[in-house]
Amino acid sequence: MLSIDLTGKRAFVAGVADDRGYGWAIVRALAQAGASVCIGTWPPTLRIFTKSLERGKLDTSLPDGGEIRFERIYPLDAVFDNDEDVPEDVRSDKRYVDLTGYTIQGVADQLRADFGDNCLDIVVHSLANGPEVKNDLLDTSRPGYLAAVSASAFSLVSMVQRFGPLMRPGGAVISLSYLAAERVIPGYGGGMSSAKAALEGDTRTLAFEAGRRWGIRVNTISAGPLASRAAKAIGTIEKMVDYYRLNAALPEANTAEEVGSAAAFLCSPLGSGITGETLHVDKGYHAMGMQADPLLASE
Ligand SMILES: NC(=O)c1ccc[n+]([C@@H]2O[C@H](COP(=O)([O-])OP(=O)(O)OC[C@H]3O[C@@H](n4cnc5c(N)ncnc54)[C@H](O)[C@@H]3O)[C@@H](O)[C@H]2O)c1
Repeated sequence: MLSIDLTGKRAFVAGVADDRGYGWAIVRALAQAGASVCIGTWPPTLRIFTKSLERGKLDTSLPDGGEIRFERIYPLDAVFDNDEDVPEDVRSDKRYVDLTGYTIQGVADQLRADFGDNCLDIVVHSLANGPEVKNDLLDTSRPGYLAAVSASAFSLVSMVQRFGPLMRPGGAVISLSYLAAERVIPGYGGGMSSAKAALEGDTRTLAFEAGRRWGIRVNTISAGPLASRAAKAIGTIEKMVDYYRLNAALPEANTAEEVGSAAAFLCSPLGSGITGETLHVDKGYHAMGMQADPLLASE
């Protein structure tokens, strides 16, 4: 029987801080397929996340009766590549002051120290941040735009630069993109659409370069809307979910589990011929060229 078997593989998933987002759904799918999973959690959310985990407030259950167990939880702030990039106000912030090794290089160094060279098979980038996401692009400042691109797009480049050397041949990197990279989505502002466009373009270039250098694949999933914690910052996420449900090719809300399954497939040997790809997991909404709902209602 053809199945997704990730037994013996180790994954690092960046961008997990609760059980409602795409990162968690990907962790669940990878764990269900047998992978060991380490995660990277943003320092401002780390305490509440680990407390919720300890107190059993997160849904760690797996469909086969097992449970998600994290091999390691590393603090990770993906806007910093190296220690010297961290400004003093962040270093001394109460959410950071007791932490070390939370830059991308810092996490790569810890992975190598904890598990040795060539310790990774799967790297997942499931994070984004745009401080001015509610501003139209026309009203976005230069710092706001650059912050969105730094946190949401360059962070992938930096992760591939630093985690690529730790990956075994046949390994896979995936990230999460959104349709705003290629179509106008009103309300998805602050340079976030630009960041997703960069992420998709970089996926192609990184696929070539990392494929030739380390024999690994790089893909991105363009996911439909989900009312995650990050998406709630946009302010219109519930309306977007409804809009997709009414207008997508398959007229249902897409689920985080579907994105998790697609990620597990892309990271598995079954996806060995796929790299440089933007895979839409959005119930076919991306294929639509016209609003379907009013037409259907008038039939
Ligand atoms: N929710 C949606 O509608 C939707 C649709 C398409 C794509 N996506 C993408 O999916 C990915 C995951 O987002 P989500 O919607 O599941 O929300 P989420 O809140 O579960 O995940 C976003 C994560 O990014 C982390 N983060 C923010 N800044 C960070 C930083 N500097 N360093 C490290 N981590 C940082 C947050 O702590 C959070 O855990 C993002 O790339 C997002 O753009 C989301």
